Amino acid sequence: MSDTEKRRVAILISGRGSNMTALIEAAKAQGFPAEIALVVSNKADAGGLKIAAQHGITTTVIESRPFGTDREAFERALQDKLTASRIDLVCLAGFLRLLTPWFVKQWEGRMLNIHPALLPAYRGLHTHERALADGVKIHGATVHFVVPEMDAGPIVMQGAVAVRADDTVETLAARVLAVEHQIYPDALRLVASGGVRIENGVCRTRATGPADDRLISPAVI
Ligand code: GRF
Repeated sequence: MSDTEKRRVAILISGRGSNMTALIEAAKAQGFPAEIALVVSNKADAGGLKIAAQHGITTTVIESRPFGTDREAFERALQDKLTASRIDLVCLAGFLRLLTPWFVKQWEGRMLNIHPALLPAYRGLHTHERALADGVKIHGATVHFVVPEMDAGPIVMQGAVAVRADDTVETLAARVLAVEHQIYPDALRLVASGGVRIENGVCRTRATGPADDRLISPAVI
């Protein structure tokens, strides 16, 4: 696939950027239908900025703090940058900023987020703590289209892990993060290649589940 046919993607980060890194590395594969054209951080000290630069990706910092409570003014600056960079798709990857309905509308059906839980369970923060406190046996991560409501929106892809009896927040988070690094690039590949459509708020895809599609937890031995 030539570069002119690839969807131009901007990744928005606020922190360490491990999902961003997974997307950048996946997009290097021949035939990947998207290229990471830009990384934007709303924090100048986000660790992911350095990693993106090391990969030769253009980075921009648009500090959100000086805009204070004027969220739309920040988003207009962001929107100007995305437009100037001819961005087709936006991937939120640990972007710690609530988005206004105005900005979400600009990117309707073209903005993805990754959330560390099997939505619609555990929207919001501290998902792993809450899953462990509830004693759920299966947990995971979700890639979804962004809608004005937080941690909602058409689900593109989910990945699950079995919760172990001796899991701590850290061990569970690490296994879920590994799943995130797999499903975010896969979901971007699917979306960028035109493999999904949204019907009545639900994401439909040609892709099916794996042949061995059961995950039962705990395993009884
Ligand atoms: C991830 O757990 C992601 O699911 C959530 O924020 C975290 C970002 O981590 N939205 P990283 O910056 O991608 O390492």
